[in-house]
Amino acid sequence: MSIQRSVFLSATLLLSITALLAQTATSLTTQPAPLPSIPPVTADHAMVVTIHHDATDAGVEILREGGNAVDAAVAVGFALAVVYPAAGNIGGGGFMLIRPASKALAHGQPHFLDYREKAPAAASVNMYLDVQGNVVPKLSTVGSKSTGVPGTVAGLTYAEAHYGRLTLAKVMAPAIRLARDGYVLSPDEAAALHAPILTQFPSSRRIFQRDGDFYKSGDTFKQPELAATLAGIAAHPSSFYKGKLAAQIAAFEAANDGLITAQDLAAYQVKERTPLLGHYHGLDVLTSPPPSSGGIALIEILNILSGFDLPKLGSDRSPAQIHIITEAFRRAYMDHADYLGDPDFNTIPLTQMASPAYAAAWSQSILPVAPSPSATLVRPAGFLPPPPRPDVLPHESNQTTHFSIVDADGNAVASTYTLNFGFGSGITVGPLGFLLNDEMDDFASKQGVPNGFGLIQGPANAIAPGKRPLSSMTPTIVSEPPTCPAPSHQTPSSQPESSPSPQTPSSRPKRSAVERPLYSEAASATNPTIPKTCTPGQLRLVLGSPGGSTIITTVANDLISVVDNHLNIQAAADAPRFHHQYLPDILQFEKAFPVPTIDALKATGYITQRESEFDEKSPGTWGDNELIEVSPVIPPGEKHGQLSGGQDKRHHFGKAAGY
Ligand code: DON
Repeated sequence: MSIQRSVFLSATLLLSITALLAQTATSLTTQPAPLPSIPPVTADHAMVVTIHHDATDAGVEILREGGNAVDAAVAVGFALAVVYPAAGNIGGGGFMLIRPASKALAHGQPHFLDYREKAPAAASVNMYLDVQGNVVPKLSTVGSKSTGVPGTVAGLTYAEAHYGRLTLAKVMAPAIRLARDGYVLSPDEAAALHAPILTQFPSSRRIFQRDGDFYKSGDTFKQPELAATLAGIAAHPSSFYKGKLAAQIAAFEAANDGLITAQDLAAYQVKERTPLLGHYHGLDVLTSPPPSSGGIALIEILNILSGFDLPKLGSDRSPAQIHIITEAFRRAYMDHADYLGDPDFNTIPLTQMASPAYAAAWSQSILPVAPSPSATLVRPAGFLPPPPRPDVLPHESNQTTHFSIVDADGNAVASTYTLNFGFGSGITVGPLGFLLNDEMDDFASKQGVPNGFGLIQGPANAIAPGKRPLSSMTPTIVSEPPTCPAPSHQTPSSQPESSPSPQTPSSRPKRSAVERPLYSEAASATNPTIPKTCTPGQLRLVLGSPGGSTIITTVANDLISVVDNHLNIQAAADAPRFHHQYLPDILQFEKAFPVPTIDALKATGYITQRESEFDEKSPGTWGDNELIEVSPVIPPGEKHGQLSGGQDKRHHFGKAAGY
């Protein structure tokens, strides 16, 4: 090659690189058009946000009758089992995060109730494979073999007994009424009951499809069997697991080729687990521990993002913000893939995963304008133990619901529960009128086979009797840190024990170590205990969503939209979504996402995918936000700031309401 030609090529290459850098830099500085915004619903004292207006009304009714946030949550949980049969349930399972505002509830300590389904004793690692070792299609998602031992009734009744203020009969009354007297179906709800999975099973076809004479919009849908079952639970809560109802469920399972026995039901127990505590821009982020994969991933994401000034990069959903957030998602999901499973069956390096030093090391590997391909991503050395061999892949899927509640004292509940796919296994326990889950599909069915959401994880999530499948559900509560008394070497007046003076988000200092209370120097992600001498900080956000593997990124984006970008809670709920989960290495966008933003990211090297029709027809895939924000400004005489509800407009029958 001649010198002139080589100089020419070098100059051309230099010009091309400069042009590319200029283009990518320009791409990332593109600002999206402002989001259209509907104002949130507000209330001064208490609020309930759910996907169904009747369930929201049930919660508000209980709050008005003197119930606390837990009473209302139990009322909502049972009501959704009636009015939202696709995901609301008594035949499934879930998580409930409870954050007291004061020592008047649960000694002021947060609680996390794990009422996730468990694999029956007859379950085995290869139960969904044929003799050739291939996955039998739908065996883990439809019908009798797909069901885990339900946990919802245990979870809700436990919550009521331990943390509620009213009686179980009182809080279940709205659900029983809705089942007995019926509720009016909207067009969307009537259409949903046409689901083919319900047609396959005689009891489901009879109850939800009137044996082919389908319900129409405006019809009143009554469920007398379910009403009787709920009344039975209200009168004898343990009967679902050890009494008459348990015997009926076990008999139904035996007659229908199911695996769940009376012994499985009798052995089911709610687990009180220690919630995780992260910190983000001076706020406490209380979230879900394993078997949720969501909380630890959320903390890792936020820890990585703590090293960036997102608003300085651009506005909410700007390419520059999306790039940095995506790279945080990618890194956290790599750890998610390698380490997570049922903590009763695995040792999970939670403390290391939540360590700020680890996140700082990760954040240094983020390139300013280009993606880091997942295939070549290398975890920072020296922080985590070697992961188990990643050869078992779980399945996660498609119908779940979340609800958020704050009572007049400022106590908060965030709960996400599920049947897994829409209408679960499709099987209704005929005489009892409730659908059974297909949560067994959240376990790995076979090594090396990608799941419905393309998630890749390790053997920690293999099927075993009595084990809980890994979940993405991430109920999360954000608050100001607790206020603790001054240490003895300071004068009492220098560190008041009462609540800090109200601060607006913009006046609140960011990333300030001094803002954190002394207790948090010792508080780790695995120890959210508030010392007896401290007062819980003011509540700020109650968050959660369905959406399978997108749950975690949805919750993270909600939090970032409010905390970093100061969107109101309704705008955060409705903002178009983006998602990255390490593998597949694709930056996914909801259909509503502006194309210029996607193009800007594509120009920097991302493989992008914008959903086509699918997400509009099945918005559950992209989740459904039911959120509450609490103003940091506390009016005189009030216990907390004004409440704002963010009810996801992707669904048309939800409601935020309060008083
Ligand atoms: O527990 C889980 O992660 C899944 N069973 C949740 C599935 C889900 O959120 C689908 N929602 N639309």
